[in-house]
Amino acid sequence: MKKTVLVSGGAGFIGSHVTVELIEAGYEVVVADNFSNCDDTCFEGVKKITGREDLPLVKMDFCDRNAVGKLFKDYHIDAVIHFAAFKAVGESVADPLKYYTNNLQSFLNVLDVAREQGGCNVLFSSSATVYGEPEKLPVTEQSPRQAATSPYGNTKQMCEDFLRDCVAAYPGVRGIALRYFNPIGAHPSALIGELPRGVPNNLVPFITQTAIGKRACLSIFGNDYPTPDGTCQRDYIDIVDLAKAHVCAVARMLDGKMEEPYEIFNIGTGRPVSVLELVNAFEKVNNLKLNYKFAPRRPGDVTAIWADPSLANEKLGWKAERTVEETLAAAWAWERRLK
Ligand code: UFG
Repeated sequence: MKKTVLVSGGAGFIGSHVTVELIEAGYEVVVADNFSNCDDTCFEGVKKITGREDLPLVKMDFCDRNAVGKLFKDYHIDAVIHFAAFKAVGESVADPLKYYTNNLQSFLNVLDVAREQGGCNVLFSSSATVYGEPEKLPVTEQSPRQAATSPYGNTKQMCEDFLRDCVAAYPGVRGIALRYFNPIGAHPSALIGELPRGVPNNLVPFITQTAIGKRACLSIFGNDYPTPDGTCQRDYIDIVDLAKAHVCAVARMLDGKMEEPYEIFNIGTGRPVSVLELVNAFEKVNNLKLNYKFAPRRPGDVTAIWADPSLANEKLGWKAERTVEETLAAAWAWERRLK
């Protein structure tokens, strides 16, 4: 029988790509979302890509404990991937309670239901933000977590700890935290991708919106960092590659391959790319010129961070495959489709 994976926040950017890869790998998926930060564009795209017009969608808020309990009664859930959360760093500084209430309560509810039903496989969507400004690069899973610089980052650390402690305490609860580096790009079909509301905070949506004329000019935040070209370095991971890592992690849990009941994996490429390199690559692969200028540093940005992904390579049997050029071409195809 097919195993069923619940994807909370499954209508969003990462959740929709993961849903596609799970279905293509032969899993049954239940998508749950409250559509607080997206419309149904990606959910409709997922149905088109997979040919699954009947894909189950539950409109619900994970902060509602009764609704989460009912969901687990209505469906036999073998594993849950928890994406449902707010994700804007700046907004979390301005309104920490919004972030603490939503991001923590929703995950506590998932864990409480997992406990109540005597166990579940729980995959938590964490972030490289937990490493702060690393002392040594690349970062491994053993690199120390640093004090969070935003309430958003704090919720990622706290949720990791919730999962670790619940796995230790409640029989049958197993968990994996995936620490993503910088997810970018879009599905090659251009049917799903990132849909930021308002002015994008993240680099690639800002680049594509500038290229298409929605924004006048990209500001590159800082060119005086101690890096080869003075701009920040990140580990940009293709969204489809990232989605595939989830399929590997779910399979590891469901096939009884975990070596510890709680495991952590970095999901990145291992390749540092500077802001300027990314902009140049975007211009080259898409054969266009981008209007950009150098601007002051953005408060809270780390100078450089990239992953050592060897643990995920070895234990999950997963590796990032797409080049940054392929990913930037996909991001541009998605932006043009939205026009
Ligand atoms: N950048 C620009 N101009 C922009 C936007 C971004 O120069 O308009 C630069 C940033 O300064 C940074 C790089 O592009 O050097 C990447 O910025 P993003 O905002 O795309 O990504 P971050 O690395 O800041 O964000 C990531 C994750 C977040 C996480 C955060 C923690 O996307 O989820 O790290 O700091 F919270």
